[in-house]
Amino acid sequence: ATTLGASAAQTNRYFGAAVAAGRLGDATYAGILDREFTMITPENEMKWDATEPSQGSFRYTSADQIVAHAQAHGQRMRGHALVWHAQQPGWAQNMSGSALRNAMVNHITQVATHYRGKIYAWDVVNEAFADGGSGGRRDSNLQRTGNDWIEVAFRTARAADPGAKLCYNDYNTDGVNAKSTGIYNMVADFKNRGVPIDCVGFQSHLTNGPPGDYQANLQRFANLGVDVQITELDIAGSAQATGYTTVTRACLAVTRCTGITVWGIRDTDSWRTGENPLLFDGSGNKKAAYTAVLNAL
Ligand code: XIL
Repeated sequence: ATTLGASAAQTNRYFGAAVAAGRLGDATYAGILDREFTMITPENEMKWDATEPSQGSFRYTSADQIVAHAQAHGQRMRGHALVWHAQQPGWAQNMSGSALRNAMVNHITQVATHYRGKIYAWDVVNEAFADGGSGGRRDSNLQRTGNDWIEVAFRTARAADPGAKLCYNDYNTDGVNAKSTGIYNMVADFKNRGVPIDCVGFQSHLTNGPPGDYQANLQRFANLGVDVQITELDIAGSAQATGYTTVTRACLAVTRCTGITVWGIRDTDSWRTGENPLLFDGSGNKKAAYTAVLNAL
């Protein structure tokens, strides 16, 4: 096939991009989006600070704009992210204890209910594990409400939208390391105890390429009985095209790897300013990295 989306569909996978509502009016941007991509993740518009700017008052304008675009163009949605230590509204940053726990539960219920039936998969919890060798949880206001906050978040999301796949999403989890093993142990525990979890997202913000055990790491999670997805792929560095080939081949080699999302469309849309980590240049031309992915799909 001649596009990323159509090529990924040959193996029942999707190929997605992170999208900013403010760029949908850019004809070059929207043209590439609708030609190439079959899944959309809102880059910022579904985060807590965007959807609940003051407590109990919900604002969906920008996120709804993206969902409407997706529905009009036959694209599916990954919801991102119901709870996260970052990009919280100021009022939540200042909360703790049962007040924060209740606010979290209400936030998940409201947002997942608003989008019920429209989301393929939700990143229910984002980046809750610590970097480094501990394999433990990241310290955050949410973590300090009690270690059970993650399972509470997943149960709440399931009740609000039983049809959405529920994912845990993180970075620096690309190889077998202390952090990914901590998450692996949590997922195994959730599966054992019947806590609802359907998928694990690997952000994959990379330089040159993934570690050598990338595919093996995806596979060990899949073997727990969850889908795995590459959720925020971007690759800086001189080996960029080769890195994209390696990531794409790894996903295709893992039956339960259901899709790949790149974190933006053109290099000029990327959050990694100056690193040019995406598949299209600033003018919207296909890069060598694009061809590498297309050929690997
Ligand atoms: C980034 C966005 O791309 C930026 O526009 C924003 O300023 C900060 O967040 N991990 C995630 C994403 O899960 O939500 C982040 O997105 C990138 C890192």
